[in-house]
Amino acid sequence: MTQESLDQQTDQTPDQQQQIRPADPCVMVIFGASGDLTKRMLLPSLYHLAKKKLLPKEFALLGCAIDNLSQDDFRNKVKSDLREFGGAPENCKFCDWLVERLYYISGDFQQPESYQRIKALLADVDKQHGTNGSYFYYLATSPTLIGSIVEQLGAAGLAEEGDGRWRRVVIEKPFGHDVDSARALNVEIGKVLDERQIYRIDHYLGKETVQNILVFRFSNGIFEPIWNRRYIDHVQITVAETLGVEQRGGYYDHAGALRDMVPNHILQLVTLTAMEPPISFRADAVRDEQAKILHAIQPPSPEDVLTRAVRGQYGDGTIDGAGVQAYRREPNVAPDSTTETFVALKLAIDNWRWADVPFYIRTGKRLANRVTEVAIQFRRAPFVLFRDTPVERLTPNLLVLHIQPNEGISLRFGAKVPGIQVDVGAVNMDFRYQDYFGNEPSTGYERLLYDCMTGDATLFQRADMVEAGWRVVQPLLDVWKALPPRNFPNYKSGTWGPKEADELMARDKRQWRGI
Ligand code: BG6
Repeated sequence: MTQESLDQQTDQTPDQQQQIRPADPCVMVIFGASGDLTKRMLLPSLYHLAKKKLLPKEFALLGCAIDNLSQDDFRNKVKSDLREFGGAPENCKFCDWLVERLYYISGDFQQPESYQRIKALLADVDKQHGTNGSYFYYLATSPTLIGSIVEQLGAAGLAEEGDGRWRRVVIEKPFGHDVDSARALNVEIGKVLDERQIYRIDHYLGKETVQNILVFRFSNGIFEPIWNRRYIDHVQITVAETLGVEQRGGYYDHAGALRDMVPNHILQLVTLTAMEPPISFRADAVRDEQAKILHAIQPPSPEDVLTRAVRGQYGDGTIDGAGVQAYRREPNVAPDSTTETFVALKLAIDNWRWADVPFYIRTGKRLANRVTEVAIQFRRAPFVLFRDTPVERLTPNLLVLHIQPNEGISLRFGAKVPGIQVDVGAVNMDFRYQDYFGNEPSTGYERLLYDCMTGDATLFQRADMVEAGWRVVQPLLDVWKALPPRNFPNYKSGTWGPKEADELMARDKRQWRGI
């Protein structure tokens, strides 16, 4: 497929084509290229970017993994993966274009020799594709290898920038497993890389609806004036999954729901919801404001952990009408595991805007529904006018940012129920992304990869933010380790988690939103 004939084809409207330029010439080097992330997320995203003309003409991809594959094996595997996981058709010109630019090296990432071969191949690829020595390394490997891969990249001269060529490293979560390990990893990779070369990825920030939190807040004059303690009673953030741990027991049984979801994905949702308007959408302006929120969240004291945090683990139950087994019987999970698969937590953001406005968060596996949302509950209107009516209480306004699925925004307000007496019913105004913008196939990684290739780090985590995120959850890690749970499993699969989560809300005379 020639570049010219591809230029004739695109999925974009002319407006879109004018506004967005293709990314900068580069080679993407994936460490862990034969793994799940590569086939499920990275390759389909590159395919979607290619279809939208957002990959540069001067682009190539070098896959590195321990598996003994030839270059042809790798190309054939990618072709079939693109069909299976990227929805590519049998006869796919964009896939052909991409596959012609694929290279593969099999090797042990611990061995310096592997990096010499990578370096030599990259020099050839540069000549062939005009990629100019600019590379970004995507570390889709076990977290334990990150430090040593970065060190070896440095030793081989593969991290050095200069003469217009850039070198960046994308690091997947988990970034460390607590404050100390995250700090140590930052120090270790900081010996080789400048902070601006490091792209710590959190795939939640690739979601359109997550990015929209900022646009919604700051492009609409009517919400910002009421976005504070004067009008908002509390915020509820739910990230609920119906899936169990699937085949990831080996990782998950050491991590648990708290590490897996809270210091990263959930705190992203908290910071975007709570932050002050940045002075621009430039990377550090946005990240400075997010970091301020992370620093304003009060890490709970050990006593608070007992009253403000709840953990749970799923037992047997039913999801979508089918029986599912308890966490302790999942593959690669210890039969007496005390790892939590559910967390509920009350956070306090100690700043002028949010003092006394609790942020309640909950996340878990094998819950009743798959839903991620941020629900802002406003204070109730004064009841005084309704005293002589049959209305018993007024329902507070509720603004829900539906992150996934059924992406959209809804606003609940009271309306008169038609009839001769005054009665108030709660009604909803609903916006659905699909109705306005259609449903483009996307993995959520497209924007993040594109940003990495254009050098925009806004949606990536800085060292200080990752450490601040861990600081928020560290007391829970400590207390929970010291006091192993005695009642696990404590919720049935297919429910909304342990009863203690409801009690946490009830103590504040509130309740979780029924979803
Ligand atoms: C990952 C976690 O980071 O996010 C998984 O490791 C979790 O355990 C997943 O299932 C949820 O992502 P999403 O995009 O499906 O909400």
